[in-house]
Amino acid sequence: METIFAIPFPIMVIGADQQILGMNNCACAIFGANYQGRLYSNVIRQPLLLAAINEVFESGERREVPFIQSLAKQDVTHRAVCVYSENQSVVISFFDDSFQDEVEQLRSEFVANVSHELRSPLTALIGFIETMRGQEKIAPEIQAQFLGIMKRETDRMNRLIEDLLSLSRVEADERIRPAQTVEINTIISAAISICNGLTKQSKNEILFFPADIPKEAKLLADEDQLQQVFNNLIENAIKYGEAAGRIVVETQYLAHDPALRSAALSVCVTNQGEAIEMVHIPRLTERFYRVDEDRSRNTGGTGLGLAIVKHIVNRHRGRLKINSDPEQGNSFCIFLPLETEHDRF
Ligand SMILES: Nc1ncnc2c1ncn2[C@@H]1O[C@H](COP(=O)(O)OP(=O)(O)OP(=O)(O)O)[C@@H](O)[C@H]1O
Ligand SMILES: [Mg+2]
Repeated sequence: METIFAIPFPIMVIGADQQILGMNNCACAIFGANYQGRLYSNVIRQPLLLAAINEVFESGERREVPFIQSLAKQDVTHRAVCVYSENQSVVISFFDDSFQDEVEQLRSEFVANVSHELRSPLTALIGFIETMRGQEKIAPEIQAQFLGIMKRETDRMNRLIEDLLSLSRVEADERIRPAQTVEINTIISAAISICNGLTKQSKNEILFFPADIPKEAKLLADEDQLQQVFNNLIENAIKYGEAAGRIVVETQYLAHDPALRSAALSVCVTNQGEAIEMVHIPRLTERFYRVDEDRSRNTGGTGLGLAIVKHIVNRHRGRLKINSDPEQGNSFCIFLPLETEHDRF
């Protein structure tokens, strides 16, 4: 019986006379320590588990049922496994399945979100195909208009698929440490050139203030992924910031970042414009989360950009900080650890 005390999950042993013979500390935390001499049916209250124990006593066969532990803040679902053991006793082990449940819930939410995102462009496409099939002659200008919309909707689906694939690649690589030594200022300049195409319409001005980084400090990174991070942050600043406003990209060398506990490099992308309400800020990196759904969809956004940024920053053992202030504007900063001489020896 003593051996059950060393087991790190709840265990209960019930004797042939239906009395509880023993429980380890984890089980006492659920059922209370005062079990000596008590019948199991007076300690366990859940009908599903009571029926399962009864069946094991009668048939000698293993039974597995869910057992819900009600805590102050939420319920924890355990898998209760009941087996027949020596001296006609029944041993019940409880396995915490809540983590598994959470993963399952996230997975089904994700599938529902993807289906929802694909549904609206698909519905539009089906509608236009049906309309065009139903009419023998369509005026060329109407046909051109329909085809233009259909092209926009297929582009949107394409972008969504590309972003989903990109997200799954980034997730798959998350545990592989990047090993390329990269030049951050070159990567940012390239991202600014790419995004400059977008500023022609929005009339934004992008200013870049690069930092002097000591030669001995090396940034080990994945160049393509960092490029993707800056493309999205700058593109967001253009899309969601003030039209014709100023966008500032600034890098800074930090000899010691207290959160990363090492030398670090920060890159902040700041735009002027409407502040983001505090309630939204912690949720911006969730997949498909958008502050203003319609506005983001109209600009062609899939709502996956910042989720991809977060995974890339995690892979680089860095951190992302979002600040919003009506005076200072919206600023998205990433902090990346640097390797210095000191770390190499
Ligand atoms: N610089 C910013 N200023 C104000 N709001 C922002 C800014 N950057 C992001 N947001 C908000 O965060 C949301 C999520 O951004 P994210 O980059 O993840 O998605 P997206 O831009 O909508 O789509 P995608 O990046 O996939 O094209 C945006 O829809 C927007 O509401
Ligand atoms: Mg974006």
